[in-house]
Amino acid sequence: MRILFVASELFPYVKTGGLGDVMAALPRAMRALGADVRFLLPVYPSIRSEFKILGEAAALPELMGGGPARILRAEAPGLPLYLLDQPAFFDRPGGPYDYPEDLARRFAALAWAAAHLGRVGDADGWRPDVLHGHDWPTGLMPAYVAYGDGPRPGTVMTIHNIAFQGRFPAAMLGDLWLPRHAFTPEGVEFHRDICFLKAGLKLADRLTTVSPTYAREIQQAGGHGLEGLLAHRSGSLRGIINGVDRDVWNPAKDPNLLSRYDLKHPARRWPNRPDFQRRMGLQEDSEAPLFAAVSRLDPLKGLDLVLDNVDHLVSSGAQLAVLGTGDPHAEGAFRQAAQRHPGRVAVFIGYDEALAHRAFSAADVVLVPSRQEPCGLTQLYAQVYGALPLVRRTGGLADTVVGATPNTLADDTATGFMFDTASGWALGEAINRVLALFRDPAAWRQVQRRGMMTDFGWEGPARAYLDLYASIPSKGA
Ligand code: ADP
Ligand code: GLC
Repeated sequence: MRILFVASELFPYVKTGGLGDVMAALPRAMRALGADVRFLLPVYPSIRSEFKILGEAAALPELMGGGPARILRAEAPGLPLYLLDQPAFFDRPGGPYDYPEDLARRFAALAWAAAHLGRVGDADGWRPDVLHGHDWPTGLMPAYVAYGDGPRPGTVMTIHNIAFQGRFPAAMLGDLWLPRHAFTPEGVEFHRDICFLKAGLKLADRLTTVSPTYAREIQQAGGHGLEGLLAHRSGSLRGIINGVDRDVWNPAKDPNLLSRYDLKHPARRWPNRPDFQRRMGLQEDSEAPLFAAVSRLDPLKGLDLVLDNVDHLVSSGAQLAVLGTGDPHAEGAFRQAAQRHPGRVAVFIGYDEALAHRAFSAADVVLVPSRQEPCGLTQLYAQVYGALPLVRRTGGLADTVVGATPNTLADDTATGFMFDTASGWALGEAINRVLALFRDPAAWRQVQRRGMMTDFGWEGPARAYLDLYASIPSKGA
């Protein structure tokens, strides 16, 4: 089966969060199972110098008001790429979601290019059976397939985060190369706007999201306005959990770590702790329970609950390290917390891939107190690296952590800690449970081992996606 992935991020070339990680791992896992998966990505500046161009798949004299565009062929390690080369839209410094003035048009261009490959194929005659788009930037792709001519490939939309929907004024309909009849509740319209994600969710053949619990939540109260549509399409929606890319996230061979380790050599984890404490400006305290958070600072991530507990953590003898960037108010509040507790609370405001790896290898506890979390990867990385995740019971966090209780400790299934209510008090109560277990090293090691032994491989999820593609009825040529 031939499949074209389309997304705005791909690690290590462009990543703002978990989407980039998943885009790097999932198509390769499907290729390992024999599927012919290729990937369409815009040519950002970080991409241009990275690849040898192997040929031109298509030339588009004008695309979405951004001038001429080409679709080029290239090869990332183990993953054939199509690159949408449209300098006016993509060859600019900054992050992938900067430049609001043409945000809609440039991701419409990406979606249109994908639909073009789906309908016409490339210059060598490769044409995908299925187009698989990820998140709102690709939401118009099923619309271009539905409203265009020619053969229709199957379409799949995956929701990595329903909070981001891509809403734009109705007056842009023509700019986005959409016909007038697309502007209905059955098409791209959402409350009198054009909504990219809604269009994809309405028009794609199959829908997925990144955990079973989130799949239920977004049909109920957690759908950010799209719950009705999703409940209506319930039969076409599946929750498939993300995995961990063991080539990138593996403490036994992680080049970012001072000392590599695995289940058989847990003591080799220790040297990473003073190394990380030094880098962060924390006291090299070998006794203190070390809590860490590696996160976008976004209200849905619930880091304000951690801010509520800074004094509680410090007065309990713990240390706290936060790596994050985003909301300026939260950044400032964490900076102030670090100033109030020098050596005990440390904050890195920014994005640093290597430091994130070191944090997972050094921390005792990784905090993920999200209000909503479609899947979440840091609680998985924590387990793989021998840190215990402390998570709120929501979305993929509920599906991937077994909270310590007298029962789960007794039957050796616990892999972390869980709390329910999104309040500082509830997190504080969970922190007390963490500290109690920390005083029992044998019980702590048991939970740590169970987490490190859990299989978060991509093979199962990759099979689930391939089964899903196979369930799409063929629409013929
Ligand atoms: P989301 O995609 O919602 O941000 P995930 O948990 O799925 O959440 O993925 C977050 C990814 O971003 C992980 O790979 C995590 O290590 C990384 N990350 C988040 N913040 C930072 C940071 N400040 N520095 C380095 N990596 C970070
Ligand atoms: C999104 C979600 C996160 C998920 C990631 C990868 O960014 O916020 O929960 O892990 O996508 O699917």
